[in-house]
Amino acid sequence: MLIRDGATQAVNSFAEDVREGLTRAGQKELPSKYLYDEVGSALFEVISKLPEYGLTRAEERILRRHSGAIAERLAAHGMVVDLGSGSGRKTRQILEALTCHQAATYCPIEISPAALESCERELDDLPHVSILGFEAEYLDGLGRAVARRRPGEGVVVLFLGSSIGNFDRQPGEVFLRKIRQALLPGDALLLGTDLEKPLAQLLSAYDDPLGVTAVFNRNLLARINRELGGDFDLSRFEHMAHYNARDRRIEMHLRSVENQTVSIDGAKFTFQCDETIWTESCHKYGRYEAPEMAKRTGFECVAQLVDEEWAFAENLFVAV
Ligand code: AVI
Repeated sequence: MLIRDGATQAVNSFAEDVREGLTRAGQKELPSKYLYDEVGSALFEVISKLPEYGLTRAEERILRRHSGAIAERLAAHGMVVDLGSGSGRKTRQILEALTCHQAATYCPIEISPAALESCERELDDLPHVSILGFEAEYLDGLGRAVARRRPGEGVVVLFLGSSIGNFDRQPGEVFLRKIRQALLPGDALLLGTDLEKPLAQLLSAYDDPLGVTAVFNRNLLARINRELGGDFDLSRFEHMAHYNARDRRIEMHLRSVENQTVSIDGAKFTFQCDETIWTESCHKYGRYEAPEMAKRTGFECVAQLVDEEWAFAENLFVAV
């Protein structure tokens, strides 16, 4: 069953966020959540298969190897809420392992209806799993999902793929605290964190030689053209990914290659040559950070599983 938010409201806030992000003083910025329309979600699926982007495969290996052990610790958790489920491929491992113990309700939360539909298709064949999807922002969807928990039922929240890394560190912790507030003691959070790694490896993960990440990034401008009546000339914006060593994050930008004016639904936006639009941050973590984040946000980190080929950690938090 799919429960949907109002689409009109989504279009209005996209237009408002674009206007605000392109007119603010100093660095122009667009929220990274808008990278994931139907085209962007499909492009992200391709990115996750690129040899240079090992993050998704690392997490899949961890879940393949350790889902049984994770599920044993979560035996009373019959509701699985997946924040940003994507295609749902990774979740299959967890759901299969969990449903060895009991039936489960799986609640994917997605702002992309296309991703939600493909996730439902991907997991439809799982016996003992009922799917209740929400087309919603993360916290709104989480609140609506947990409101349906049965008496005594535990909840496990999945926040996989290092999506926490797309938040700045402080807002990321505020977000974890809000997840905690929606939960009860004993509920769990499985949190993926991509770890720090050599610079060259990071740069080619976010600026791959095939140019898929560049297309993924520029699709945000194409989306503005499609949905908001923009006239961005995509050939006049270049994908850039650089590592900000102070904040330990990759930053993705779109650089204007000349002075230009773009119109969106009649409104004009000017760009200087070399001026950038900041489109995404991807923070990288030390192994020590997730347990500390857990403590500060009302959880305990009871297990941390690290992949041997690509520095990535899956962290199991329990709400205290
Ligand atoms: C979804 N998110 C965790 C990805 C990341 O690595 O931060 C998004 C991404 N952007 C470019 N490549 C992948």
